[in-house]
Amino acid sequence: MIAAADFIITKAERSKLHDINLDNIPFGKYFTDHMLEVDFEGGEWKTVEIKPYQPLLMAPSLAAIHYGQSIFEGIKAYKNSKGEACIFRPHDNFRRFNKSAERMQMPQVPEEIFMEGMRKLIKLDSNWIPAKEDHSLYIRPFMFSSDEMIGVKPSEKYKFMIILSPTGPYYNTPMRIYVEEQYVRAVPGGVGFAKAAGNYGAAMYATAEAKKKGYDQVLWTDAFEHKYVQECGTMNVFFIIGNTAITPSLEPGTILPGVTRLSAITLLQEMGFQVEEKNISIDDLIDAYKAGIFYEAFGTGTAATISFIKELRYKDFVMQFDVDHWRTAPALKQWLTDIRTGHKEDKYNWMQKV
Ligand code: COI
Repeated sequence: MIAAADFIITKAERSKLHDINLDNIPFGKYFTDHMLEVDFEGGEWKTVEIKPYQPLLMAPSLAAIHYGQSIFEGIKAYKNSKGEACIFRPHDNFRRFNKSAERMQMPQVPEEIFMEGMRKLIKLDSNWIPAKEDHSLYIRPFMFSSDEMIGVKPSEKYKFMIILSPTGPYYNTPMRIYVEEQYVRAVPGGVGFAKAAGNYGAAMYATAEAKKKGYDQVLWTDAFEHKYVQECGTMNVFFIIGNTAITPSLEPGTILPGVTRLSAITLLQEMGFQVEEKNISIDDLIDAYKAGIFYEAFGTGTAATISFIKELRYKDFVMQFDVDHWRTAPALKQWLTDIRTGHKEDKYNWMQKV
C-alpha cells in the first residue's frame, strides 16, 4: 500500500479557470489546472505527483506508441445541491481499470493511488466542476507502457495519470445509428471487454464510413454472423421491447461492462421492467419493430450518459422512433441526473463525496 505521505502536491501559480466559459463547453477540450502522474519502475509504484497540467516529454521509442499497451477509464464528478463535489461509482471504474490492466499485461494500480489520488486531484480543482444540468467534471485515469525500447514485449515501465476535463453533453441530439455488418469491434477471446485505447482507434474507420452515409455512430454486431448486436459506438445499448428492457449479454467478453449500463439495469428494474441481459439479434429487433412493440432504443456510457437513438438502419430497413413521445429513457436519464445532483435519494450509495 502507498501511504498518503507518498503524494507530492505542487500547486499551479495561476488558475486557467477564468479563461474558460463553463456555461457552454464541448466534451474533452479543456483541462483543469492540475494532473496526477506516477511511474511504475523496478516492479513498484513510485511517488505520486499532483502538479500543474503540462505536456509530457517522451522518447520517440516510447513502447505505448508502438504496441498500444494503453488503457483508460471515464468517470464523472458532479456538484450536488449542497455544493459538495461527488464522484459517481468510482470504485466500479477502479475495478474495471485493473481488469483492463490484467488483460493488457500491465501492472495493477493500487486502490490508494487510484482513489485517493483522484480525490486529492478533484479537491484541488473542485472549482472546475460545472454546476449546470447535463454538465460535469469528466475524470480520465489512464496508464501506458513507458519503456523506451521497440522490442515487442510487455514493458517494464508504466505511467499512470489522471487528468480532469469540465464537460457538457457528449451527444446533443438523438442519434441515427447504422448497423455495422462489415467491420468488427470485438471477438470472443479478444479485448472487447477491456477499456483498451486500441479498441477506440480500431473503431474509427467504420464510424467514419457510417458518418459519410449520414449516421452518427455504428451499432456493432458479432464477428461471425453479423447478427447479434454488441455495442453502439462508445456506448452500451438498451432496447425497450414490450415491458422488457434488453441489453446485450457481457458473456462472450466482447462488450465493455459499463458502469452506467449497470446503473441503468438497476433503475429500469425499479421502474418495473423485466431486464434481460442476453444475445439479441438484429432480426429480433426488426420483428419487434414490425409488431409495434419495439418502443425505445438508447445508449449508455459515462461520457454519453443516456443517449437516445431516433433511427436504426440495417441494410435497407430503417427503424424510426418518435423520441418526443418516449417515457422510459427520458425518465431514466432524469433519475440518474437527480441522483448525481442530490435531488433524489442515492439509496445505492453511488455518489462518493470527494
Ligand atoms: C466514456 O464514456 O467515458 C468513454 O470512454 C467514451 C469515450 C469518450 C471514449
